[in-house]
Amino acid sequence: MRAGGGFDPPFRFADLRRDNGDAHAGLRAGLLAAQAAIPAKYFYDALGSRLFAAICCLPEYPLTRSEARLFAERGDEIAAAAGRGRLLIDLGAGDCGKAERLFPLLAPAGYIALDISADFLREALGGLCRRFPELPVTGVALDFMRGLNFPEDLLAPAQAPRLWFYPGSSIGNFAPEEARAFLSRIAHAGGALLIGVDLVKDKAALEAAYDDALGVTAAFNLNVLRHVNRLLPADFDVADWRHVAFFDAAASRIEMHLEARRNLEVRLAGQPRRFAAGERIHTEDSYKWTPDGFAALLEQAGFARPRIWQDDGGGFALFLAGPA
Ligand code: AVJ
Repeated sequence: MRAGGGFDPPFRFADLRRDNGDAHAGLRAGLLAAQAAIPAKYFYDALGSRLFAAICCLPEYPLTRSEARLFAERGDEIAAAAGRGRLLIDLGAGDCGKAERLFPLLAPAGYIALDISADFLREALGGLCRRFPELPVTGVALDFMRGLNFPEDLLAPAQAPRLWFYPGSSIGNFAPEEARAFLSRIAHAGGALLIGVDLVKDKAALEAAYDDALGVTAAFNLNVLRHVNRLLPADFDVADWRHVAFFDAAASRIEMHLEARRNLEVRLAGQPRRFAAGERIHTEDSYKWTPDGFAALLEQAGFARPRIWQDDGGGFALFLAGPA
């Protein structure tokens, strides 16, 4: 693929996002519904992505550090189990940093980076290819949470066994039934899966992770309204809304909401929507798993019994599951 300037980037790139004019119809419908909701993917505009990176630095939010420590301390073991020379397929690559840190351990035969954010991914892959000039690299811009349909010929080298990589407990955004369906699509596509999952723990610790003392998570949650304002457009005023996060132990999930501080009216793509004081917009679910519960889910999805590496506090786990 030739860029406008006439040079070939050192990687293949495919933009498979469905941009059919009414890309935000679901967003508008969700906000107009009796129980208003905004899909969690809308958190990640340029500021939202930076706020999430800041969340990962908070003492209350150990997920990212726990996962990195597991790779640092148990990486040899994990790589020995996963095997070298695989085609590494990164689900939600972002800046590709997590995958890149595994390259020395995994010596992948090729790297396929999937992400919803095309420009960010292109830039990250440019840097990566300068550091790993021999590695075959492909970028795919895709909302893969809606499905994993991409042309098989993008998977190169095609003959290398696949290792799917889904770090960061992003699987937590799926309800259990959706998670099972998503994991079985991966199992069907073939290969092994290396996935990071946040575990059920003490309610106070879980709630602090989603309602931190500095208010970074509150800012992350509220910022979704500014993103929506630009997209629809809409005229939300963040000062009218309050961040709410709690752990529902029965459902084993953190719920995040935005709660109206007063009776108000918002215009959503020209349509008025009233909110009563105390009314909430649901913005995110983040499911927490037990090691046994997630191992069972992987098996139900069609994988073999996984290997599990847990951090010292037992708050986070990496699962490696091969084909059944
Ligand atoms: C990126 C989905 C893993 O659920 O912990 C962090 C997003 N939301 N703080 C999570 C998030 C609030 C995060 N995931």
